[in-house]
Amino acid sequence: MARIDLDTIRKEFSDPDAGTIVAVEDLDLTVRDGEFLVLVGPSGCGKTTTLRSVAGLEEVTSGTITFDDADVTDLRARDRDVAMVFQNYALYPHMNVRRNIGFGLRLSSELSGEEIDQRVDEAAEMLGISELLIKKPRDLSGGQQQRVALGRAIVRDPEVFLMDEPLSNLDAKLRAQMRTELQELQHELDVTTVYVTHDQTEAMAMGDRIAVMNDGELQQVGTAEEVYRTPENEFVADFIGSPSINLFTAEVDGETLHGPGGFSYRLSEAGPLGDRDRVRVGIRPEDLRLTESGNEATVTVVEPMGNENFLYMRMGDHDVTARIDPSVRPDPDETVTLGFDEASLYLFDAATGDALKTKTEDTDVAVSDYVASDST
Ligand SMILES: Nc1ncnc2c1ncn2[C@@H]1O[C@H](COP(=O)(O)OP(=O)(O)O)[C@@H](O)[C@H]1O
Ligand SMILES: [Mg+2]
Repeated sequence: MARIDLDTIRKEFSDPDAGTIVAVEDLDLTVRDGEFLVLVGPSGCGKTTTLRSVAGLEEVTSGTITFDDADVTDLRARDRDVAMVFQNYALYPHMNVRRNIGFGLRLSSELSGEEIDQRVDEAAEMLGISELLIKKPRDLSGGQQQRVALGRAIVRDPEVFLMDEPLSNLDAKLRAQMRTELQELQHELDVTTVYVTHDQTEAMAMGDRIAVMNDGELQQVGTAEEVYRTPENEFVADFIGSPSINLFTAEVDGETLHGPGGFSYRLSEAGPLGDRDRVRVGIRPEDLRLTESGNEATVTVVEPMGNENFLYMRMGDHDVTARIDPSVRPDPDETVTLGFDEASLYLFDAATGDALKTKTEDTDVAVSDYVASDST
């Protein structure tokens, strides 16, 4: 096990067309000993580059990487004691599962054939693939192949696991199952793990903590609940959560916010607004409810989810989404009125995106007090 410290990591690529690309910009991040940290962000934000830098597969432009206070910045990948699992886990087609799992050890370690076999047996047992050891990759399902790829990493008994979107090639159901298995496995092995994904649902479900990146820069690190409830900026608020937070620009008039489609809301105090004349307003779909009076919106689609309904609406020229009680099913084109608590409201600076106000109390909620509107 190891603690990983990234200190002002910067990685530039030079591209013949685009010139200098800053893939990772002055990234500071500590991964705690034994932690499962998920690095999440949109495609191209620098996740893979960060992970490859930790692995030693990329040489950083500047900054320092340490494992337990030992500087590894200039160490080659094979001297860093990390095992990496990729999205494309090419197995050797002509080797059976046992040989696939043990192959790396055979090349890189001094272990005897017997010792390698024993490690392979243990890993296979852990992954529930003992009965597949004599099979060839072509006889395995996608999920089984992914387990073999994990087995290759586990037998190396590394200080650090690095995983780059390892579940992306699996179908949704298997992915959900493998998520749970991977977490269990990581807790069992207690190996410091950095797991990369572009899927915020996966990040929320798996990480002890989540590090959100955008455009080469680290935005925020925290538990799933922290990044969800108290995002440091509009990007994090928007990226984390599904369906996404409702966001729009409002004009400030004293304590009152004026938004699209006649939206108007009076805050109890203007404090968070400072002297701004415009702010970005954010409301999570689960914090909206249908009320008798409030701001009007026009229903476009109702999606039943079983335990709740997703209600899609237009508020002026803006799309708005609410998560409401499954018994509430307004008709398309119906006009509804929306209410929410001030405690659940998010406000962001319109220019910088910095959070001015996040959720202030426990606002899990929302039994809908919907009353069908008279015909409109
Ligand atoms: N070898 C490379 N040469 C040039 N540019 C690269 C190279 N690898 C990555 N990049 C660029 O660096 C940025 C970050 O890429 P990457 O780390 O792969 O992002 P992610 O994994 O988050 O999708 C992108 O703009 C990508 O095009
Ligand atoms: Mg990537």
